[in-house]
Amino acid sequence: MKNYTKIKDLPNLSQTIKEAILLKMNPFEFQDLGKHKTLVMLFFNSSLRTRLSTEKAAKNLGMDVMILNVNDAWNIEFEDGSIMNGNSSEHIKEAAQVISQYADIIAVRAFPTLQDKAKDESEYILNNFKKYATVPIVNMESATAHPLQALADAITISELTEKAKPKVVLSWAPHPKALPQAVANSFVEMMQDLEVDFTITHPEGYELSEAITKDTPINHNQEEALKDADFVYVKNWSNYKDYGKVLNQDENWMMTKAKLGGAKFMHCLPVRRNVVVEDAVLDSDQSVVIKQANNRTYAAQIVLKQILEDL
Ligand code: CP
Repeated sequence: MKNYTKIKDLPNLSQTIKEAILLKMNPFEFQDLGKHKTLVMLFFNSSLRTRLSTEKAAKNLGMDVMILNVNDAWNIEFEDGSIMNGNSSEHIKEAAQVISQYADIIAVRAFPTLQDKAKDESEYILNNFKKYATVPIVNMESATAHPLQALADAITISELTEKAKPKVVLSWAPHPKALPQAVANSFVEMMQDLEVDFTITHPEGYELSEAITKDTPINHNQEEALKDADFVYVKNWSNYKDYGKVLNQDENWMMTKAKLGGAKFMHCLPVRRNVVVEDAVLDSDQSVVIKQANNRTYAAQIVLKQILEDL
């Protein structure tokens, strides 16, 4: 694999999930694969899980890891041909090539503006790194996608399902802040590629991009959508049509134990208790959020392994 910026970069999804589960049983099996290789992780935004699990994954493969909080470095200019007499001190053309000399793989986290839809959808940060870096690029959550999270989610469902074709529901939840659509987008795309009965439920007007949802069923009646679910993935996203706006904070959409029924509860974390989901869910055996977060390591590890094998 050359890059992992989207789920479709994986040459074989079902094989990748199986191999990730095997890696989890024997995480140091390939501890020499990354010897004398360096992962540089660039963070334009905050992280707990992605940062620690990806570092752990790289170290399990014997890699060295360097981390840069980009906001501590020089402001990077992404516009081609711009006259750089403002706040930006260096251009992505130099920055990406320079970092490539220190790295064998570069991983990037760069959230959307949630103000300029066209700019966000161009994935200008991730794609400029892809364009000008001379080493593979891994997406640690970009403006529109979080493929490492989605792979961890797929591993979690594959491990825990008791059915050949479980019912999975993605349920929108209220949140006081404007959040990206990236996690929901990648989860939808991942479920479309798995053997699951998949439904999305959200308030009217909260449709994700049709380019993502395609013909996935959408039900605006949450109770109806949740009926007989095996896995319920709860996530807030800000409005996509009225881009980046929070138009609904209806607490009736919060996930409760009563609504969850017998399903397993999933969330990418971090999660706001008693806003997105009530304590009784998170504190119950039905919550698999900690297992999901653990699988972030093996999702990152199988991705790095596949890239290292093709260097
Ligand atoms: N789920 C997730 O990406 O967590 P962090 O933002 O803490 O990395």
